[in-house]
Amino acid sequence: MEIVIQESAEQLARMAADVIEDVVRTNPNPVLGLATGSSPLPIYTELIRRHREEGLSFAHCTAFTLDEYVGLPAGHPESYHEVIRNEFTRHVDIDDARVFSPDGSADGLESAGERYDAAIKAAGGVDVQILGIGSDGHIAFNEPGSSLSSRTRLKTLTAQTREDNARFFDSLDQVPIHALTQGLGTILEARRLVLIATGAGKAQAVANMVEGPLAAFCPGSVLQLHNHAIVLVDEAAASGLTHSDYYRLSFDRKPAWQKL
Ligand code: F6R
Repeated sequence: MEIVIQESAEQLARMAADVIEDVVRTNPNPVLGLATGSSPLPIYTELIRRHREEGLSFAHCTAFTLDEYVGLPAGHPESYHEVIRNEFTRHVDIDDARVFSPDGSADGLESAGERYDAAIKAAGGVDVQILGIGSDGHIAFNEPGSSLSSRTRLKTLTAQTREDNARFFDSLDQVPIHALTQGLGTILEARRLVLIATGAGKAQAVANMVEGPLAAFCPGSVLQLHNHAIVLVDEAAASGLTHSDYYRLSFDRKPAWQKL
């Protein structure tokens, strides 16, 4: 796991965008893993800018979101399928029909996870997966206690996650109770992971993920098992890390040929 500490979310976003741009420009059929939530928004802003100003094209890309609420009607503005469209994909040239989310509508929920994992596999697997982390250490909607080898499936959201996400709905009651989420085992299959975390509210979760034990209690700690995971954090999110001096040193001394 490589930990990169920078002052601003914009600097982190440019680094994440560099990784994604590299995949998009060098791979004939890139598969992107997209996350919703506030953390990746500066990354999408930067990618949209590169599309508009520098001709970065996503026309040959396929994308899979990490998760989807269960029970929201298709087209609901807070469904993650719509959110990712509004925040990123409709502003670039990716084909809408190649942006996939788990199917959280009522029919076929039991097999929706299996179908989603099969679709990711059929597309060739995710080349680069963007991630955020919840204040309780969750990634995607894998809440604490999630199996470290879990596959895409239905999860019950914790009271904390529902409260955190209530800001997007008119009231807490409207926040769905369940979600379909890529499993931790599914996420580990992506070839590269890029997690972004900003703000003091993420400091404890980041410390548990990076320096705590590998534990279902902190689902983010599963990144310790991945051979190409980058954790991009601002100073506030890094404030709980014990070895931040070492992370800064190794980033400063990184050989030029060894890209992120
Ligand atoms: C959303 C997702 C979640 C968020 C996490 C952090 O697709 O996967 O795990 O990344 O809840 O959310 P923000 O970034 O809003 O703090």
